[in-house]
Amino acid sequence: MTDEFLPFSRPVISQEAIADVVSCLESGWITTGPKVAQFTEALKTYLQSPYALPLASATAGLQLALVGMGIKSGDEVITTPLTFAATLNTIVLAGGTPVLVDIDPHTFNMDINKLEDAITEKTRVIMPVHFAGLPVDLDPLYDMAITRHLRVIEDAAHAIGTEYKGNRIGSFGDTQVFSFHPTKNITTGEGGCVTTRDTELAKTINLLRFHGMDREAWNRYGKQGCQDYEIVMPGYKYNMMDIQAALGIHQLNELDDFIYRRCELAERYQEALSDWPQWTLPAAPAYAHRHAWHIYTPLINENIAGMTRDEFMQAMKERNIGTGLHYRAVHLYPYYRDKFGFCSGDFPCAEEVAERIVSLPLFPAMTDAEHDKVLDVMYSIFH
Ligand SMILES: Cc1ncc(COP(=O)(O)O)c(C=O)c1O
Repeated sequence: MTDEFLPFSRPVISQEAIADVVSCLESGWITTGPKVAQFTEALKTYLQSPYALPLASATAGLQLALVGMGIKSGDEVITTPLTFAATLNTIVLAGGTPVLVDIDPHTFNMDINKLEDAITEKTRVIMPVHFAGLPVDLDPLYDMAITRHLRVIEDAAHAIGTEYKGNRIGSFGDTQVFSFHPTKNITTGEGGCVTTRDTELAKTINLLRFHGMDREAWNRYGKQGCQDYEIVMPGYKYNMMDIQAALGIHQLNELDDFIYRRCELAERYQEALSDWPQWTLPAAPAYAHRHAWHIYTPLINENIAGMTRDEFMQAMKERNIGTGLHYRAVHLYPYYRDKFGFCSGDFPCAEEVAERIVSLPLFPAMTDAEHDKVLDVMYSIFH
């Protein structure tokens, strides 16, 4: 093996996918059109959802789901501090107020036992994040949401292909948002998708994603198309392009194989690192019928390792191995401290995990030899 830099993630794109993207580019129609329509049907089938709406990103999906549910100033949306900033940013951009619930220190997901205390008269939505592709314990969460008349938007950016108690995320519940960013379980370059069982919400998101226009642009220019349209609400420009969908159709076909390999690699880490005192390994509770292992995230035990997480990441980089940081605790970013008065100590479990967590290389095309090399390099850093 050459000593090239090994990134923490790399997308796997087949020659067939490349050929289809090229033929889309040559077809004369490259923005939203027949490929997006085909991808939409494929997503509905895979996710077993009555509605699937491909979009420019998951960030767009979170925002449109919140706007579509009518979030307004003063409404509270409950989520987790251990997430990407987009989860909280979209709540703020939609006009809501983020309310945070600390994580479970073993699963890194929102601690459902602490959820009830965070619900107030102003709560409208619960927005759990399926961290790393491990499902949140959804039964008690939905029980609470139904009892308290709250909507649920699952931030499933990490979780396409994840299963909770044998049911695929997206196939039940209220509303889900998936990401197709290049590090995710499938990619369309950038991209995302909302699934929902709510017909009115699906109609609203369909309008909001394209200017609030009551007809699809691609119908407008075809022979059968109608040039005219109405604007029925002020919308955004969050549609997915056919170029992206041409790639997404192939990626979705390969998703189960990708997850199979992700699981193999995660298992390999779990086995190899189980007796290393330098690490506390991520949990995979029984309700996680299928963990999609979008990322593999152990916690460093600083005292035994003799270094901080940041020092470990630097040492890996110097030895040509990339790692990732998912995530710093969002409430401690300057905007959230200043605007909402969050401070250190508010969410101790998330804060501790955020100091110790590291994402090791994991992607479907990673070979056993590359995996062994990561472990060898890690060993050499500690000995
Ligand atoms: C938990 C979470 N939510 C939302 C997003 C936003 O996804 P996108 O990049 O597709 O907008 C990400 C992306 O990393 C994420 O990790």
